[in-house]
Order: sequence, then C-alpha cells, then structure tokens
Amino acid sequence: MKNIAILGNGVVGSGTARVLLSKAEKIKAETGEDINLKYVFVRHDYEGCEYRDLFEYDYDTIKNDKEIDVVAEVMGGVHPAYEYVKDALMRGKSVVTSNKQLIAECGYELMNIAKEKNVNLLFEGAVAGAVPVIHGIRNCLKANDVKRVYGIINGTTNYILSKMISDGQSYADAIKKAQELGYAEADPSRDVDGIDSCRKLCILADIVYGNHIMPQTVNTIGIRDIEKTDTDILSQNKKAIKLLGYAAKAENGKTVVCTEPFVVGDDSVLFATNDAFNAVAVDTDNADTIVFYGRGAGSFPTASAVVNDIVECINAENTIYPAWGAERNDLLESYENFVFKHYVRAVISVAKVKELFADAVILSEGKECAFLTSEMSENSLSEKLEGISVKAKYKTI
Ligand code: HSE
Repeated sequence: MKNIAILGNGVVGSGTARVLLSKAEKIKAETGEDINLKYVFVRHDYEGCEYRDLFEYDYDTIKNDKEIDVVAEVMGGVHPAYEYVKDALMRGKSVVTSNKQLIAECGYELMNIAKEKNVNLLFEGAVAGAVPVIHGIRNCLKANDVKRVYGIINGTTNYILSKMISDGQSYADAIKKAQELGYAEADPSRDVDGIDSCRKLCILADIVYGNHIMPQTVNTIGIRDIEKTDTDILSQNKKAIKLLGYAAKAENGKTVVCTEPFVVGDDSVLFATNDAFNAVAVDTDNADTIVFYGRGAGSFPTASAVVNDIVECINAENTIYPAWGAERNDLLESYENFVFKHYVRAVISVAKVKELFADAVILSEGKECAFLTSEMSENSLSEKLEGISVKAKYKTI
C-alpha cells in the first residue's frame, strides 16, 4: 500500500483528492499498489466536503508520519510550500506539485535535493494543466535541438481575450467568470499581468535550454493594455492577439525569453486555441513543429496531471529527472536584440509607412495606420518609429 498526503484543498487540491479517490482501482492496476489518501492538509474548514475525515490541520502530523510515500503539494505560493516540499524531500519522500511559482523560483535547488535523496520531484501540473508538455518535451524530443518553444500557457487570460473578442463580454465580467470556473489565480493580477505565464515559460525554458531562469529576469507584459481597436483590426485580417510565453535560441547560442501579447495568424494552431485551452508549440530541428494542446487550467484537468505524477512516483525505480543547471544570466540574450515581425498601429500615413518599412503589409488605414513589418529587432523598430505617435505595438509569430 502507498500512502499519500495532499497539502492544500483549493481548486487543484480538491480535484486531486477526488480523482485519487475515484480512480483507486485504475491506479492499483497501473501500480500494483492500493492507494491510501491518508491526509489532506488544510488551513481552514471546507464545510460539506465529502472527505473531511481526511483533513489534517497540523502539518507536523504529516511531517512526522513515516508511512507517507508521496506528498502532493497543491497549495500554491512559495511559503510555506517551499519549506514543506524541502522537508518532505529531505525525509526521502517523493513530491509532486502543480506549484509553478515554487518550481520557477526554487526548482533548481529542490530538484537537486530530490536527486541527492534519490526521490522524485515531478511537476507536470505546473505548466499547461492537463497538457503533458513537460513529459512530452523531456521524454519524446531527445533526438532534437529546440529552436524555440512558445505558447499560450495561461488559461485565464486566454479565456478573457476569447470572451471579450468573440462574445463582446466586458473585461470585468470575463475575469469574474474565469474566477468562478476556477481558472484564475487567487490574485488574478498574476494572470492578467503575465506573471503566471512568465513562471510557466521559465519552467519550459529551463527544461529546454538547461539552465534555471528566474522569472524576475524575464520581460513580462500582460493583457491590460490591449485595445478593442487592435483586436478588431486583427480579426478583420484573420489574426488574433494572444498572451504568449516565448523562448528561443539566438544565433549566438544564447537564450531569449519574454512573456507578452503576440499577434498570431490563422495559419497557427495558437489562433484557434480559445477559452481556457493552452497550446505550446516546440520548433525542433528534426521533428519540425510539435504542438501540445489541451485544458490548461481548472480543477480536474490539473488534478489529472498531478495524479499521473503520483502514479509515476510510485512506479519509479530511480529518480526520473536530473536537475537542470544553475542560473546563468550570461547565457540570456536581450529580447530587444532578437528579430521578430511586428504589428504596429500609429498616427502615420501609408506613404510614410512605405518609406520607413519597404516590405510593410498594411492592415488598416485612415487617420491611423496599422501594419506589419518585416523581421527586425525591437531596437531597430524603435529607431524607425522615433517621433511617431505609436498607439500599439506587438511582436508577431
Ligand atoms: N491561473 C492559471 C491559468 C491556472 O489561468 O492558467 C493554471 O495554472
């Protein structure tokens, strides 16, 4: 028999408890073990919860229980999650977590402790909910160099943008609904300001490029400033704005990372990724582009990934993943030097656009002009637009 403790009973914690309890037979078939959910660590009461008999209010009881085999940390935030996860690993227990902030900030240290103690620290649920992007990248692309990895990795903002653009919902209504559906962070500014996407992007980039990237070092812009004028112009031109995490290998071998709204065309899978769905594209040398797509937020989708990680911990004979390398800021390239095509809306005539940008594609004209540039760095773009009143500017993919 294997004993599990879940730390947290919020959206993901309650989903994890319910999936574990309802899938006991399936998990036994997968692992050969009876699964005993022994504790759900809670910090306040959840009246009416059907498994309240499993609630434990004192963390020390779980900490000192030698029978616990796997700890599922689904509390979110760094403290006290960091202390609990570290303690569990030090005591030789495998840990699974959906905590993107914890892994993005402390993953390097914690994975090394796991490795030292010969236990696992798995975190599939931390990026893109149910979508097996971490397993996919780590296990299935070993024969490839990854040119870039980019995608929609925040369900809440994608839901808000979809509802505002397709259904004409207000920002306030869309965010409220995203909260009701259990997509949004406890503090939804983490979603709309791009912070959640940034954390997930860092985890993907750590895996793909091999060194820990601290979220604070990544240029991060959210969705608050997106204007209807631009979403309208773009939809008339079969394009959309999506909040993306983006990491790529620059020509000098360094890594470029940024999180911001990008313009995507209808030839991209990302264009059709709506509501709380996530999609991560990986451009590789041998396999071309691989896309991972599915539900990126919500109770059961995230629990699906967490419970799968529990099963893997039980089945693993050795540690599954070695830690990635330490933080190396000298290996990061500034996104401002990296070339993209850009979408620009500015107070400028078509003639002037054509004079400044020989290959520009005009999307709308009038008192303001919206256009796409050819590939150029943000620095060159800013130089060309000096003295011009720019209303909106987005990278395109
Ligand atoms: N707030 C997150 C999102 C939850 O909307 O994607 C899943 O990580």
